[in-house]
Amino acid sequence: MMKFAYGTLIAVALPFVLGISNGDEPTWTEKYGSQYDLLFSGPLSFSHLPYSKCLEQKESLFDIAILGIPFDTAVTYRPGARFGPQAIRSGSRRQFDFTGYTISWGLSPYDQGIKILDCGDVPVSPSDNALALDQIEVAYSTLLKRPIQAENTRYTEVTKVLAKDGIGHPRIVSLGGDHTIVLPILRSLNKIYGPISVIHFDAHLDTWPPISDYGGTITEQSRVTHGTFFYLAQEEGLISNSSIHAGIRCKLTGLADLQNDREVGFQLITADDIDDHGANEIVRKIRERVGETPVYVSLDIDVIDPGLAPGTGTPEPGGWTTRELKRIIRGLAGLNFVGADVVEVAPAYDNGDITGVAAADLVHDLLSLFVAEGSRPQRSGEQKPLVKDEL
Ligand SMILES: *[C@@H]1O[C@H](CO)[C@@H](O)[C@H](O)[C@H]1NC(C)=O
Repeated sequence: MMKFAYGTLIAVALPFVLGISNGDEPTWTEKYGSQYDLLFSGPLSFSHLPYSKCLEQKESLFDIAILGIPFDTAVTYRPGARFGPQAIRSGSRRQFDFTGYTISWGLSPYDQGIKILDCGDVPVSPSDNALALDQIEVAYSTLLKRPIQAENTRYTEVTKVLAKDGIGHPRIVSLGGDHTIVLPILRSLNKIYGPISVIHFDAHLDTWPPISDYGGTITEQSRVTHGTFFYLAQEEGLISNSSIHAGIRCKLTGLADLQNDREVGFQLITADDIDDHGANEIVRKIRERVGETPVYVSLDIDVIDPGLAPGTGTPEPGGWTTRELKRIIRGLAGLNFVGADVVEVAPAYDNGDITGVAAADLVHDLLSLFVAEGSRPQRSGEQKPLVKDEL
């Protein structure tokens, strides 16, 4: 009896003494719970959202899609924006849906009863631009036709009222890609909404007529570049004469460029206007210009000063700060948005992800813009109370 008890004791105690599991070792979930993504881990999707290959997965439904368009073969200077979608997603790694609230907006876009999904990238040809543009248009139209999820929100009402078919359509925030991607996007939007206004944040006009650069010959395909796509969009009747640029500061051939720009259908706010008139006046002018029309926001990252966003193909000194741009975007809440993009992010020229992080933050602002209730622009000279005093 004594011997048996001694042996039992050894059998039970020995594994613990030697640190050997007897099969009861806890699994990860028993001990630590879920396998959550850290700020710096997990697969690369925008703000750690679910990632779906929506183009082929019909069951992937959303109210706002994030769509990468890695096309950069129509640039006039430095290429590299094909890596833009990756850089923007990478720049969003410190963003999550559960930390989407910002003091400046007073809301989280992820907390509005609408579904936001990262729909992956359009596989675009890197060697045939005509093919690539068709691929972008087909992809965009495929997603635009997907039924929306949310019901009876201001968000859904707006798209129903604007669309020619009276049906609610999702909105897409595209991650470029060089700016040429906007031509097939406007072709696609035109089928749903007819001609639309564009609010165009950029250092450059992008309304230039096709010219015989690069060897003196113009071909059907050489006409289509990241500097001519708005000219072509006007030729095709895709944009209405109620569009506006903001942040312009590039060098021009002369007044003829500005005359052409007006004929294409744009008013113009220069980068300097922020010093002379302030952000509120810029907001007022944009709102007045586009009014109640369906409006697309196209945001070239080079509107920001290259010191704050160097990772881009055609940098122009003397741009707006990221904070100034964010404030102007906030002032646009309540307009009738049908889509948006952030383009021309080229991470090869970036430093410490500064451009990718800025672009990801601006995508968050665009998501917030889509869901925010209308706001009036602050009157100039009006003091906004400190947030801590309002709380
Ligand atoms: C747009 O309006 C401007 C000025 O009002 C005019 O000069 C221009 O020709 C118009 N363009 C088109 C395409 O209608």
